[in-house]
Amino acid sequence: MQSLLNKKIVLGISGGIAAYKTPELARQLIQEGATVQVVMTQAATQFVTPVTMQALTGNPVFTSQWDSSVSNNMAHIELSRSADAIVIAPASADLMAKLSLGLADDLLSTLCLARDCPLLLAPAMNKQMWEHAATQRSVERLNKDRVTLLGPASGFQACGEVGMGRMLEPFEITEQVIAFFQKKPLIGKKVLITAGPTFEPIDPVRGITNLSSGKMGYALARAAHAAGAEVTLVSGPTALPIPYGIKIVSVITARDMYDAVMAHIAHQDIFIAVAAVADWRVSEVSQQKIKKQNATSPELQFEQNPDILAAVAALPKPPYCVGFAAESENLLEHGAAKREKKRIPLLVGNIGHQTFGKDDNELVLFDANGHKNIARASKAILAGKLIEEIAHRL
Ligand code: C5P
Repeated sequence: MQSLLNKKIVLGISGGIAAYKTPELARQLIQEGATVQVVMTQAATQFVTPVTMQALTGNPVFTSQWDSSVSNNMAHIELSRSADAIVIAPASADLMAKLSLGLADDLLSTLCLARDCPLLLAPAMNKQMWEHAATQRSVERLNKDRVTLLGPASGFQACGEVGMGRMLEPFEITEQVIAFFQKKPLIGKKVLITAGPTFEPIDPVRGITNLSSGKMGYALARAAHAAGAEVTLVSGPTALPIPYGIKIVSVITARDMYDAVMAHIAHQDIFIAVAAVADWRVSEVSQQKIKKQNATSPELQFEQNPDILAAVAALPKPPYCVGFAAESENLLEHGAAKREKKRIPLLVGNIGHQTFGKDDNELVLFDANGHKNIARASKAILAGKLIEEIAHRL
């Protein structure tokens, strides 16, 4: 599914080194179905060429308000009139200051002033420039003018420093643009999600864990955020990037996960337990590495971990609880029974237990009325559908 089908996006580029990532952003927006019209400032053309952008988008690139090829010589009006949104990436400190004051001295700033569509900016600048009081005043004014800021993020910067001001990655900007156009059924709601595996140590270098990449839980966190919710993600060890706009709490063991969930559960509206929590932990964790001894194997004693989902569902005023099940057989029977046993309104079964690490899946939903299937799709699409189902039931 293309999430930006029929959307016309004016992609503005201002002068900053992060412009080297904008061709990739244009490619991703087009892949999602958008028509992309690029407008560049003169400074931007020092970092990426109009030819590159033209070749990628299939549309002529505008760099000047004095372009005689535009009918009526009114490029600023024409371009913004037909657009569903203007997205500027990177948005430099200079451009943000200009837009916050309503200045219009080149094509990009003029078309922002003349627009009647939403404006989304992905700031990119050195950390000192971002933190400068003048830039923060621009941010405040832009917020008041209902301009949407995507980022910036913190991290390694081209100038060699590390700090706030780094442009979001193209995939994050694409995701935010998609989220911007989506329905927001969870606005004002708080959602807590567990994801990934837990790791239960045996000794300082060994442990037991469950198979789980965290992809489904992270996709659900993104989908809930896109639906307008305030999302907290309690995650076991995964190799996934932290989703933008989401509070992450990293844990290792099931007991850590239990503690983190209980510390955040107050005032949550929805709890989605996606984590593959280890059912057992080793009773006595060795402080030193257990040495191999000829012919004898260590004997491990196990004890049960707390059932986080069941504990949340048993709270006096539980949030709307959703559980997951990965069964190796008899999913329909076990799924329905598990929902009742855990006393939760909704349980999601993975059809086929070999979903670990894959990018797609097929689901079956169990509720008080029976069960229904959600057809095979990418985990991102499934997450969106599941959030819609949850919002609907809420
Ligand atoms: O009991 P079982 O592991 O089959 O149930 C799976 C569901 O319960 C998942 O939603 C999982 O996140 C949750 N769970 C939990 N704490 C555990 C075990 C499972 O929250 N200790």
